[in-house]
Amino acid sequence: MITVMGATGTIGRQVTRQLLAAGEQVRALGRDPERLAEAAAAGAETMAGDAGDAAFLTEAFHGAAAVHTLLPYDPTVPGYRAEQDRLGDSIVAAVGGSGVRHVVAISSVGADVPAGTGFITSLHAQERRLRRLRDAHVLVLRPGFFFENFASVAEVAARYGVYADAVAPDVPLPMIATRDIADVAARALITRDWSEFTVRELLGPRDLTHAEATGILGAAMGRPDLAYVRLPDPEMIEILVGAGFTEEAAALHIELGGALSDGTIAPREGRTASNTTPTRLDDIAGSLVPGHQRA
Ligand SMILES: NC(=O)c1ccc[n+]([C@@H]2O[C@H](COP(=O)([O-])OP(=O)(O)OC[C@H]3O[C@@H](n4cnc5c(N)ncnc54)[C@H](OP(=O)(O)O)[C@@H]3O)[C@@H](O)[C@H]2O)c1
Repeated sequence: MITVMGATGTIGRQVTRQLLAAGEQVRALGRDPERLAEAAAAGAETMAGDAGDAAFLTEAFHGAAAVHTLLPYDPTVPGYRAEQDRLGDSIVAAVGGSGVRHVVAISSVGADVPAGTGFITSLHAQERRLRRLRDAHVLVLRPGFFFENFASVAEVAARYGVYADAVAPDVPLPMIATRDIADVAARALITRDWSEFTVRELLGPRDLTHAEATGILGAAMGRPDLAYVRLPDPEMIEILVGAGFTEEAAALHIELGGALSDGTIAPREGRTASNTTPTRLDDIAGSLVPGHQRA
């Protein structure tokens, strides 16, 4: 049996589907039984609870051959860093308390850097916690920027003819489809073919700049003129807070944009066949733009 944290989320939902399709028994976790109904209908055992509750998580990890873990991303939650620490401590306590031997952890490119990387600083802290586990084999996956991030901004971009964010337009970045991250995670959970503390970067098919990515999205929405602009920090913060980000999360987003733009956040492995993943932005851009019915 394999336990999947965040089974209602972008990556965990796809990991759950793939494990079930491969004939694995799955215990799917989330906070809300209603959102877990899809996993239950597909054949998973489900457990609803707060991942910050170490007793709940220990029970959920108990008896699993492997667990899929992540730190949920929610920029509307008060005290982002403190909440990430709370969840991260609980995950590590539950791995230790349940005796599970194999852990796959979703992290990020840039998590090797201790500070100054916005949201990714929490993932650095989590990697440090996981590295201290003595009795579990931990595989840390460090993906690049998710293509799916564009889905949340595509509607506004279509309305105004401009996609605005905090990253420089012309910096090539590794960008990846979450389905490819889920593929790697599911295969690892099944094969458990790594030992000790292992890090793997996942870099997508090729690096893309925000300007290039915007061109691909624009073509998919029938707006070939769609432009990308990097907004000045105060304007960007105002937009983010208006969209529900806390002040802390807005500041972390700006810091992240700066660190992506100046090369602080960058892959360390160099591009190889094993960290290059197949899905191109062009392959899924149509599913990220307004009007598409998401599955
Ligand atoms: N976006 C990027 O470009 C990027 C790049 C690299 C790495 N990352 C990292 O990837 C991770 C996000 O993965 P994702 O997009 O798959 O996540 P996601 O879609 O935000 O899903 C989060 C999952 O966690 C669950 N959850 C949230 N709070 C919880 C809590 N307190 N207790 C129990 N479950 C909780 C949610 O379920 P319910 O809401 O149903 O409870 C959901 O299933 C983050 O660590 C992020 O930093 C992101």
